[in-house]
Amino acid sequence: MTLKVRPLSPTIGAEIIGMDPREPLNQNSVEFLRKVWLEFGVVFIRGYKLTDAQHASLCSNLGKIQAERTAPESESESHPGMLFVSNFKENAILPGGEMWFHSDQCYFETPVSATSLYAIEIPSSGGHTIFCDCSEAYQDLSEELKSRLEGKLAMNVYDYQSNNRYFKSEERTVGAPEAPHPVVRTHPETGRKSLFINRLMTDCILGIEERESREILEFLFDHMEKEQYLYDHKWKPCDLSIWDNRCTLHARTNYDLAERRLLRRYAVEGDKPY
Ligand code: SIN
Repeated sequence: MTLKVRPLSPTIGAEIIGMDPREPLNQNSVEFLRKVWLEFGVVFIRGYKLTDAQHASLCSNLGKIQAERTAPESESESHPGMLFVSNFKENAILPGGEMWFHSDQCYFETPVSATSLYAIEIPSSGGHTIFCDCSEAYQDLSEELKSRLEGKLAMNVYDYQSNNRYFKSEERTVGAPEAPHPVVRTHPETGRKSLFINRLMTDCILGIEERESREILEFLFDHMEKEQYLYDHKWKPCDLSIWDNRCTLHARTNYDLAERRLLRRYAVEGDKPY
């Protein structure tokens, strides 16, 4: 079957039609998958019942599956790197409702390059994943702000019990994983620049006054979260997504925790941002 792309918003997200992820992909399909992933930031393939191993095999076309570093106790013993995101399944991660925009594992020196979710059980409403195009958001900044951000590093911290944590550096949990990364990151494959900060985990811009850092971050978060940079995905069972974690953010909308939500997750190893 011919492979087709169906864009899902003006800037971010596309569905691949005609690719059967239950079979190992041939070289042509692997190249197609990578091309769409790099161009649209988030790829979806829908409607196929996928086993744990088929899901892993699909993701490994984009690189080496990342062994779990944040919650190793939740990692599957039979399938390295496999986790479940769920509000009811035992040992699953991220059981809550709403989650603010973030980039996976930006608090490590080498954040993952890709993350993949596969929908198994989905609540009747809410629990969407919203994706943000950080390259377009960067492109639209004024030249003055772009040059102010050039060469700046921001500290990213995995410590978000408090909803406005990034205003409270002094309240950080001792030993919380953290990593400084460029505020503006260059994509290692496309060469495009994008904002690499997020509301949930970016604590401050280093080397400037705390007040100025707060003002700039608040401005940038509001800017990135504008409708025009977003794609809001309403999950259906058997939806598979793979996003480029180097140039996108994602957030989760609230849902009724009395309903069941279950997604399977893999991630792909990444490099140190520059
Ligand atoms: C995540 O942030 O990795 C989970 C997103 C989701 O549950 O929709």
